[in-house]
Amino acid sequence: MNLKETKVHLDQTWEVLERAVGGSDKSPILRSNDPDFIKKALQTDFPSMEDSFEKVLNEFESQILPFLNLNTDTRFGAYITGSGNKISALAEFVKAFFNQNGLKWNNSPIASELEQLVIQWIAEFVQLPEFNKGILTSGGSMSNLMGIHFALASRFPNREMNGFYGEKPFIIYCSNQTHSSVDRAMVFLGLGRSYLRKIDVNDQFEIKTDKLKEAIRKDISDGLQPLMIIGNAGTTNTGSIDDLQTLAEIAKEFNLWYHVDGAYGLPAKRLAHLKTEFSGIEHADSIIINPHKWMYVTFEASCVLLKEIPQAIHFSPDYLFTEDPGLRWESSEHTIELSKEFRALKIWFTMKYYGAKQLTDFVELDIEMINYLAELLENEENVVVEPHHPLSILCFRWSDPNLSEEENESINIAAVRSIETRGNIFITGTKLHGKTYLRVYYGNPERTKQDVEFMVEEINTVFAKLI
Ligand SMILES: Cc1ncc(COP(=O)(O)O)c(C=O)c1O
Repeated sequence: MNLKETKVHLDQTWEVLERAVGGSDKSPILRSNDPDFIKKALQTDFPSMEDSFEKVLNEFESQILPFLNLNTDTRFGAYITGSGNKISALAEFVKAFFNQNGLKWNNSPIASELEQLVIQWIAEFVQLPEFNKGILTSGGSMSNLMGIHFALASRFPNREMNGFYGEKPFIIYCSNQTHSSVDRAMVFLGLGRSYLRKIDVNDQFEIKTDKLKEAIRKDISDGLQPLMIIGNAGTTNTGSIDDLQTLAEIAKEFNLWYHVDGAYGLPAKRLAHLKTEFSGIEHADSIIINPHKWMYVTFEASCVLLKEIPQAIHFSPDYLFTEDPGLRWESSEHTIELSKEFRALKIWFTMKYYGAKQLTDFVELDIEMINYLAELLENEENVVVEPHHPLSILCFRWSDPNLSEEENESINIAAVRSIETRGNIFITGTKLHGKTYLRVYYGNPERTKQDVEFMVEEINTVFAKLI
């Protein structure tokens, strides 16, 4: 396809996108939650021969686009799905246009160098400039896995050849609110979930540090090997932030690697009223942050930040010939990825275009909007709002004192399902204190008070239909 044709197709594609999101109607943002319905709509013949772009685009518009959830819409408040931003989307196009692959420094020098630059910028953004080394990954799950991998690399430099055979089991400590990617990393790294100690939290959903110390002491006396502590700088459930200073002191006392999961919450460290909440994070050995969450970069973009990177993999096959090892940054010496997409470009575009000041204002606005949502829901009869919501996540539930706990529980479970089926807003469910809650995440700076009010109306409609 020549450049002229590409431009024509780009314009045609743009028209389709505009039709999809440009209207003023409030059509559902979730298009279908029925897998069979989607599978049926996708049924077409195997594409054995070429087709015109117009026909391909037409089929995209009729078969695929109708099922794209509009997570860029201000009515979307599910999981921790950031809205992204359109500059980042343009950067994605540019990246793909040049089809860069950072598998080796010389295969895309700019991908490697820009990765290092944006890592420095991210460190600067979260006001931890000494954490100016690291690696970009696909998401927080991969970054948490990398954090554990770096802890192992630092503690056991010989593991590359010998594995961990004969070692006493290693123990990793975190709170029971820590993201499940850590549990999964235990499985993927062959460490075993039985060796992850999930410590109780207080009523603010923050790790009980006295319980943590007890657990470490017990493991030592049982002949096990404590390896690392994982602190939370913004949990997935409620946005709670652990006492990062005390965790740092405990890590130091027991000589443990200290990793902080700030995948979601870390950008809030820039806000004056929250700064002290993050005190102690500067003592971490590794920190993660997801630009694709609260830095509004499009998926996928996560980052592991370190002061020093423990070299994790020391070999290079012949076909990845390096004349002068150590002279250039080779990302594959630290991570399992070889082919590597040019993630840094969309972070560079986003940070340059918006600037740190405006990105901080966006974070502040999301918190303001979640506080407004809390205020509105608190005024609703029979709705209980979880009072601890320091960032932009809010949990609430239906709780009518005249109903039994089972009846209230089934209303909340049904409400989660009904909201998804109606598709006018998208929020999800979780469990707090053993009960089902509805959970909202705000990460879209275009949201207005009217959007919040619309969300409350929809929630009220759903509850009214269920009681
Ligand atoms: C605190 C935290 N850590 C890690 C993750 C995993 O991130 P990802 O979905 O990008 O893998 C999440 C996801 O929501 C999270 O909230």
